[in-house]
Amino acid sequence: MTRMSLPTPTLDTARLRLRPFDDADANDLFAMHSSAHVLRYWDAPPWSERRRAEQFIAACRQMADGGTGARLAVDRASDGAFIGWCSLNRWNPDYRSASLGYCFNEAAWGHGYATEAARVLLQWAFDTLDLNRVQAETDTRNVASARVLEKLGFVREGTLREDCVVNGEVSDSWVYGLIRREWRPSSGAEWVPKEGSADTVAAAW
Ligand SMILES: CC(C)(COP(=O)(O)OP(=O)(O)OC[C@H]1O[C@@H](n2cnc3c(N)ncnc32)[C@H](O)[C@@H]1OP(=O)(O)O)[C@@H](O)C(=O)NCCC(=O)NCCS
Repeated sequence: MTRMSLPTPTLDTARLRLRPFDDADANDLFAMHSSAHVLRYWDAPPWSERRRAEQFIAACRQMADGGTGARLAVDRASDGAFIGWCSLNRWNPDYRSASLGYCFNEAAWGHGYATEAARVLLQWAFDTLDLNRVQAETDTRNVASARVLEKLGFVREGTLREDCVVNGEVSDSWVYGLIRREWRPSSGAEWVPKEGSADTVAAAW
């Protein structure tokens, strides 16, 4: 499998802008990922060192350079505030599959932002990467994340028993899958490639 780079797009929705990460996001990213409450169902402990945020941002660039996926910072359009991130990683062009992930600031929860961000990212991915399947896993206690996936049309396919051990705590995960033929984009999430922009590079694959 020959890999090309995959420029991270900028995607706009009615209320959000999804864009490539920048070094200046490190403080906001660290604040979010060092919160034990935000990370309570995560598959790793909260961060305790700021350099983790810098490594994360470097990994986003590597993802784009290596063509393995796209991880986008999410800003609220009304005030430009960073509210979280959404990603499509583990892209496998042979299998036409990828994985979805997301994390949002606690202050931004409950407004439909995660669903709105994931929806436009999925639309971009189905349009430009010719995906057939998207997979997501979530801790079985993470009702909000499971709800986001179900609102997007994902189907719960099974349980990974004792999937994660974080700080000695063992947890189960649900596996969710979304198949291209089941994808139902809804209004407000349209993504229109800009002529001649980096966004159209991936579309030419
Ligand atoms: C999971 C997460 C992304 C959801 O973000 P969000 O912007 O609040 O999500 P949305 O508003 O789009 O949707 C959340 C849904 O869950 C529902 N929900 C939230 N908490 C719930 C609870 N305790 N019980 C039942 N439903 C709940 C909301 O009512 C909403 O559903 P609705 O639109 O039908 O009312 C956010 O909580 C988060 O970032 N958590 C920390 C990181 C994380 O766990 N990421 C996922 C890892 S798999």
